[in-house]
Amino acid sequence: MQPVAARQTIAVVGLGYVGSVTAACLASLGHRVIGVDRDPIKVDSILQGLPPFYEPGLDQFVSEGHASGRLTATLDLAEAIGDAGVALLCVGTPSAENGDISLEQLRRVCQEIAPRLDRRSKPLIVAVRSTAFPGTGEDVVTPALGGHPMAPVVSNPEFLREGCAVKDFMEPSLLVVGSASREAALTVAGLYQGLPVEAQIVALRTAEMIKYACNAFHAVKIGFANEIGAISARLGVDGEEVMSVLCKDYKLNTSSAYLRPGFAFGGSCLPKDLRAITYRGQSLNVKMPLLQSVLPGNDAHLARAISAALAFSAGTTGVYGLAFKENTDDLRESPVIYLIEQLIGKGRDLRVYDPHIRIDSIYGSNKRFLFDTIPHIGRLVTAGLDGLLTQSGRIILTQSPPAADRAAIEASGLPVLDISRIPG
Ligand SMILES: NC(=O)c1ccc[n+]([C@@H]2O[C@H](COP(=O)([O-])OP(=O)(O)OC[C@H]3O[C@@H](n4cnc5c(N)ncnc54)[C@H](O)[C@@H]3O)[C@@H](O)[C@H]2O)c1
Repeated sequence: MQPVAARQTIAVVGLGYVGSVTAACLASLGHRVIGVDRDPIKVDSILQGLPPFYEPGLDQFVSEGHASGRLTATLDLAEAIGDAGVALLCVGTPSAENGDISLEQLRRVCQEIAPRLDRRSKPLIVAVRSTAFPGTGEDVVTPALGGHPMAPVVSNPEFLREGCAVKDFMEPSLLVVGSASREAALTVAGLYQGLPVEAQIVALRTAEMIKYACNAFHAVKIGFANEIGAISARLGVDGEEVMSVLCKDYKLNTSSAYLRPGFAFGGSCLPKDLRAITYRGQSLNVKMPLLQSVLPGNDAHLARAISAALAFSAGTTGVYGLAFKENTDDLRESPVIYLIEQLIGKGRDLRVYDPHIRIDSIYGSNKRFLFDTIPHIGRLVTAGLDGLLTQSGRIILTQSPPAADRAAIEASGLPVLDISRIPG
C-alpha cells in the first residue's frame, strides 16, 4: 500500500517552532491548515500572515499561506479540529525536574480532544509530532483520548533543526510514521506527498524510538568529534582535518557499518586501541568521558548476553562461533571466550564449534592459544558442525552462520538462542 496522497484539512496543535513551520509548509503543499495555540500572540501573528518568530524562509511561507486562505489560526481547539481529518500535535515536551520528559502538554491536549470525538461524523487521526518517549502513544495519548475508535493514534516525529527548519521540512532527511492502524499511517504519510523523501512506515513504538535514537546518535557524533578534536589539539594535530578525512571513508565510517545492534565487540584492535587512546588522554589531562565509557558499555552489553545465555542453557549446550566475529580464526580478546568461561563457571555443560577453528587443521599461534592458554575451552571444541548438533540439546549462536550451516542448524530442530542479534 502507498501513502494516501490527498489534500486534507489539518489541525496543527501548538504553534511553536515545530508547529508554525509544519503548518506553513503543509499549507504550501496544498493542504488547508488551521493552527491552534493557547498563546494569543502566536495565533494573531499567523492571522496577520506573519511568522510568530524568526526562522529563515518562514515569513514567505506564512504570508503565502495566509494570502491563499489555506493557512489560518485560532485559540479554539474545537474549531481547529472540527473539519480536520488529521490533528498534528506539536506541543512542547520539555524536561521534567528529574530529567524525564514532561508529557503534561500532550496529555492535556488529548484530554481536550477526547470529549469532542463522540460528535464526529469522520475519524480524527491524532498524530504526535512532538518528541515523545516510546510507549507514549499507547500509554498516554490513547488513554487520554479514551481509546476512542474515531481517533487512531500515530507517531510522526519531527526532524527539523532550528535555523534551517523550513529547508529541513521541504527536503526532509527522514519521514517516519508509526501506528497500529496502517490506514492512518498511510494517510499521515500522504500529507508529505511531493516532498523528496520515502516514508518509513513502522510500528507506533518504533517511530517514537527512532526519534530518540536519531537525537542520541547526533549528540554522540558531536561528543565524539569534540573529544577527538580535544586530544588532537593536545597532540599538535589538526582535529578538523582528522575528522574531515575520517568522514571520507564512506564504507566504514559514514555508512551503516557497525550500526546494527548485535553482540559485544572484541578482537585484536578495538579494545586495545580504545585502552591506549583513553590512557593517553588521561596522561595528557584531556577529559574524554564518552570514549572512556565505551569499553564499560561493551562489558555491560556482554553481561546482557551472558544473562540470556545462562537463562537459555540447559543440558548440553552447543556454542556456535568462538572467534570475535565471522570469517576469522583470530581468538584474541574474543568476548565469546569470556561468555563460555562464565557459562562453565556456572556449571553448564558445553560443546563449541567455529567454522574457521577446526581442531583437525588448526596450526600456529591459534593452536597454541586454544590448547595451551585456554585448554578448558579447547577440549570442548567438536570436530565438525555435525558433532556440535548431535552432542547438544540446544544451540547458542554468537555469530551469523553461513547459509549451509544455518540450514543444518534449522534442520536439527534444536532450540536456538541467537546472541549475534540483540540479546533479550
Ligand atoms: N524545536 C526544535 O528544533 C524541534 C525539532 C524537532 C522536534 N521538536 C519537538 O517538537 C515539540 C515542540 O517543540 P517546539 O520547539 O516547537 O516547542 P515550543 O515550546 O516552541 O511550542 C509548543 C507550543 O505548544 C503550545 N501549547 C502547549 N499546550 C497547548 C495546548 N493545550 N493547546 C494549544 N497549544 C498549546 C505552546 O503555547 C507553544 O506555542 C517538542 O516535543 C520538541 O522536542 C523540536
